[in-house]
Amino acid sequence: MKQIIQETLTSIVDNFKNEGLLPAETTTRIMVENTKDKKNGDYATNLAMLLAKPMKMKPIEIANLIVKAIPQNDKITKVEIAGPGFINFFVSKNYLASQIEAILNDQHLGVTLAPSPETIVVDYSSPNVAKEMAVHHIRSTVIGDAVVRIMEFLGHKVIRANHIGDWGTQFGMLIAYLEKKENENATNLELSDLEAFYREAKKCYESDEEFAVKARGYVVKLQSGDEYCLKMWKKLVNITMVQNQEIYNRLNISLTDKDIMGESLYNPMLKPLVEDLINKKLAVKDEGAMVVYLDKFADKDGNPRGVIVQKKDGGFLYTTTDIACTKYRCETLHANRIICFADSRQHEHLVMSWEIAKLAGYVPEGVVLEHGAFGMMLGKDGKPFKTRDGGTVKLKDLLNEAEARAAKLIESRNNDLPDEMKPEVIKTIAMGAVKYADLSKNRTTDYIFDWDNMLTFEGNTAPYLQYAYSRICSIFRKAADCSIGKVQITTDEEESLGQHLIKFNETVNAAANKIAPHIICSYIYDLAGLFMRFYEACPINKSDVPAEIKSSRLALCKATADIIKTGLNLLGINVLERM
Ligand code: ARG
Repeated sequence: MKQIIQETLTSIVDNFKNEGLLPAETTTRIMVENTKDKKNGDYATNLAMLLAKPMKMKPIEIANLIVKAIPQNDKITKVEIAGPGFINFFVSKNYLASQIEAILNDQHLGVTLAPSPETIVVDYSSPNVAKEMAVHHIRSTVIGDAVVRIMEFLGHKVIRANHIGDWGTQFGMLIAYLEKKENENATNLELSDLEAFYREAKKCYESDEEFAVKARGYVVKLQSGDEYCLKMWKKLVNITMVQNQEIYNRLNISLTDKDIMGESLYNPMLKPLVEDLINKKLAVKDEGAMVVYLDKFADKDGNPRGVIVQKKDGGFLYTTTDIACTKYRCETLHANRIICFADSRQHEHLVMSWEIAKLAGYVPEGVVLEHGAFGMMLGKDGKPFKTRDGGTVKLKDLLNEAEARAAKLIESRNNDLPDEMKPEVIKTIAMGAVKYADLSKNRTTDYIFDWDNMLTFEGNTAPYLQYAYSRICSIFRKAADCSIGKVQITTDEEESLGQHLIKFNETVNAAANKIAPHIICSYIYDLAGLFMRFYEACPINKSDVPAEIKSSRLALCKATADIIKTGLNLLGINVLERM
């Protein structure tokens, strides 16, 4: 609807230009907003105000011209001018009803697919090998996965890239330590605590010279493709990723082994890459190292910023890998768009490696490189979220705690849930709550992680939305006849709910364009609220409700349920029919 109004206004503005009322070179951003108060119609625009200056007329006069120029149609029943020149549009109830029916009959619930699907590489989760996933990885993992789902829903081809940290000099030490453990006949069990494993390996490296010599030797051997070292390295990667996969499965993250494209993948490409940068006169030798100087990142005195791509000892860096990775994604994966979810502190690193990739001609014209930056997860005290003794919180422990708390929440309520259903319900509520707490916040800012605010049935939380969904399911369970019929808008509550239902399309598209899943969260939250109001005001299963009204209301229930379910699924959150 918004789009239709926008198009109508655009052609009116074009006509003003043709008639010479408006200078041809004027550019105006035509904005159509959703109104807050239904007294002002369903949509409004401030276009007349924007045109006042270039047209040298009073806004109210322009508003009159615009209203006169709006062609008669069956979608808008009324157009009103308000205040100094706002124009309010009232959507026809019949048209609204037909739009809701269209949603009910469409697999995509009225969401328009991307006119030209793109190949989008989404780099997300990306934990490091031989370390356990920590809380900060939840942000990249959960937000990245939601964006993947949204893009796929819109018809894009998405390539999931789990850019794991599986290469680097630390592997010499880790291989030497794994060997030591294996010689001591340690079982895989002890590796379940990867944090301890890493810590102990480091301790040995620092205190035992013989161990350190061996470890350094293994770095060289691994780099040159030594079979034994590769085997040991692969073992470490597998142990880590088996554990991470468990977390992905618990959290309903769509990543699998197939999506692993770690740093090691790019290792063979680094030497030729630096040679190419030298040939292209981008990289120059500076005190033994190879450096690319970037004018774009010059300091305030105009000195270009130097980025090392190869160290004096011949080693490559995190940046070199990201340049090779960008080249690979453009040239081999044919990405049109690359979105990298990493915390905001990695911003400079990413944009500098992209700048080098662009200068070297690896990024074709039109390919968009974006950093899906996010802020930190903070504790209630406003400081980085830590364990009581100041350590990093393991993601696994956080998820365990979420389940324990969800179990208490379920037990504290009156419910007729059969015992055998409880474990699934608890898990779905726990994971939904944790994910939603993250997704519902503006991606770019820090946020406070607070158990009490996320595991509750009140407010903008996953349990509240899951509850709203299960409530609709129970309406259908209770209705003797649950056939849905033609939609009729007879009350204000039905109208407000309907107006919101038909905004699902613009919501999903906005979330995709802005890489902002929280837009979908706010939308579903508002939808649940409007539904509750509708449900209170408009009886369904009462005996005196005429059959056609009942079936119309059931249609509204169905459309609401479908959108809550699909919306939550786009966020990677499951719904429950009973809870
Ligand atoms: N492994 C990094 C970390 O744990 C994130 C990698 C992000 N992606 C990239 N292409 N640099 O923080």
